[in-house]
Amino acid sequence: MLLDRSFRQTLIARLLQSAGPATAAALLVAAPGCAEPEAEAADLRCFAWDEALGACLDRAQALDELKSIYTRCDDRIVSVESDGELRNGGCCYEVIAEDQSDICPMEGRPFTLEGHRVRAAPREAEAGWLARATASGASGQQPSLADLTGEERETLAGGWLRSALEEHASVASFARFALDLMALGAPSSLVEAAHIAALDEVGHARLGFSLASAYRGGPVGPAAFPMPPAVPIAPDLAAMARAAAEEGCVGETVAALLAAEKRVRAGDAAVRAALEVIAEDEARHAELAWLTVAWAIGAGGEPVRRAVAEVFEAAAASLRRPPPPEAEPGGGRAAALAAHGHLGGADVRALHSAALAQVVLPCARALGLWQPAAAAGAARPEASV
Ligand SMILES: [Fe+2]
Ligand SMILES: [Fe+2]
Repeated sequence: MLLDRSFRQTLIARLLQSAGPATAAALLVAAPGCAEPEAEAADLRCFAWDEALGACLDRAQALDELKSIYTRCDDRIVSVESDGELRNGGCCYEVIAEDQSDICPMEGRPFTLEGHRVRAAPREAEAGWLARATASGASGQQPSLADLTGEERETLAGGWLRSALEEHASVASFARFALDLMALGAPSSLVEAAHIAALDEVGHARLGFSLASAYRGGPVGPAAFPMPPAVPIAPDLAAMARAAAEEGCVGETVAALLAAEKRVRAGDAAVRAALEVIAEDEARHAELAWLTVAWAIGAGGEPVRRAVAEVFEAAAASLRRPPPPEAEPGGGRAAALAAHGHLGGADVRALHSAALAQVVLPCARALGLWQPAAAAGAARPEASV
């Protein structure tokens, strides 16, 4: 699948410029090595809980609650393995969870704990996260519902709600990223950009919740974010750079390209305006990630480079896996849904793969952050991704 050509080319130029040319020489020192994958840590999942309500829910009730929070496109919670423990406004449980990222590729910067994506549950009648009208008119516009069936409105409400909850999680992700940068001695330009990006994500979440509310016919927003009482920050430069590469160089670069592609297909003016804002902001967030990785490698050297290379190698490996079976039935109204910013799962996965193959990996390769296995083994840099 081809991505929007002009947006793609502009983004590639911006990303390469972010990490070079001043830093490119430092990056082009040695080929990245390979490391053993890390063993999976025990999974701990929490949800907000007011101690005034008494003890935490039992395991069966907790499983239902957690399933409502960690839905199809996060981790699938299979079972709850411990009793709940009250922790600073939340109940936490050890769980067994299955990664669903093959089914729902990452679209944007997630908030991750122990390698798993976390996001808030939706809350009906929550109006505190709706977009406000601005002078530019980009926020607060209402989509046209005229030609939509009830089923289509429901699909669109669900799609935009999921997207809004992911944007909402990105606010927390950037807040933690800013702390990582502070703790690792990053320059003020990166810390400043991280805070600005967090505010951008607040705006994206508002746009998404507003569109979801319009399609469903009533306000919907996020419940309290299921933040554990202690949120770990990156222990060192390599861990921070790995997360920046995963969540930013991959996640936000893909998010920018997906938003741009959705914008091209969107006929509804309110949806197009929202996607215009999101695509441009996500492109800046992607630039920030590539710049951060370049700074981290300059400051931390080879261990950081190896950590980053593993992320791109994992992205390349994901392209070599066969796609999962199509879970969503195709419909004759795909164009109508696309006009309102909703693409089917197969389209999203195809665009995700195209973004990796046409932008993320070529940029990583050009900056010396990664090279294809064939090129690494046989010094044939022309080998294709
Ligand atoms: Fe965003
Ligand atoms: Fe973003």
